[in-house]
Amino acid sequence: MTEAAAKVPVDGVAVTAIGVAVIRERESLRPDRLYNDPLAAAFVTAARAGFEPDRWARMEEIADQFYEGRTIGVRLVDDRFREAIEAGCRQIVLLGAGLDTRAHRMSLPADVHVYEIDLPELFAFKEPVLAAAGVPPTCPRHVIVADLREDWRTPLLATGFQPDVPTYWVDEGSLGYLNQDWNRRVVRTITELSAPASRFGAGRMVVDPDAPQYRALKDFVGESNSAPRNPPPDFDVEAWLQEIGWTTEFRSWNSMTADLPRPTGTLDPRIGSIAAIRR
Ligand SMILES: C[S@@+](CC[C@H](N)C(=O)[O-])C[C@H]1O[C@@H](n2cnc3c(N)ncnc32)[C@H](O)[C@@H]1O
Repeated sequence: MTEAAAKVPVDGVAVTAIGVAVIRERESLRPDRLYNDPLAAAFVTAARAGFEPDRWARMEEIADQFYEGRTIGVRLVDDRFREAIEAGCRQIVLLGAGLDTRAHRMSLPADVHVYEIDLPELFAFKEPVLAAAGVPPTCPRHVIVADLREDWRTPLLATGFQPDVPTYWVDEGSLGYLNQDWNRRVVRTITELSAPASRFGAGRMVVDPDAPQYRALKDFVGESNSAPRNPPPDFDVEAWLQEIGWTTEFRSWNSMTADLPRPTGTLDPRIGSIAAIRR
């Protein structure tokens, strides 16, 4: 067994990152792909070696159920990344980075710093796979091993993050694993660490945590302290963001996906993303 296979997170919330890598590998193989993530295949191959075959098959089934919407979501975040950099953000923080490889695959300028925050078990697997692949990032990449429910501000600052530089904060399917209190604390910390013109995209979902695919995911992950996925917030997130220092604009999924070269389906118009800019 390789070093990485020995450390594959086969359960717990970090396992969800492998599911997303399965989705990105599948998308990257399509002739009409919406993005290309060549390193996803390296993660998937290394992860498969650490799973029992039945459990791996179950993982692929669940990834299939989420594929359509999730893969479009990856492309939308790629687009927001480029927008944020064009607008002057020179720091990008991935909250719950998982097996994201944007620092490697998006030809980001060398003066942009990417900060990846995730749990120890995730990086124990990710870093050896990246090292073995030997594909360097195109910009400085910083690993912050931290739990978003604990003090992640101190290690972020310790790696060189500068609160006076405009930052793009990315939540791509991670804050949904934290309860509302934790979400608010994370967003308050983001707010304190954000220079004017920093950006944050908050998903506005209409998720039924009892829908079959979410129940399947919850059973698979098998964790109670980070229940996937929590119900959507019961307060007006947009109003709250405005109150604590952000200007906001809601973009519906339907409007964000209208120009993509793939049918994306029409969703409930309340679903989409709140694009927030720090005042
Ligand atoms: C669904 S995955 C998404 C990963 C990545 N954003 C992507 O799109 O590929 C959720 C990620 O959130 C991370 N995560 C969940 N709870 C966390 C916590 N309390 N602290 C840090 N990371 C966490 C998991 O380890 C996992 O990598």
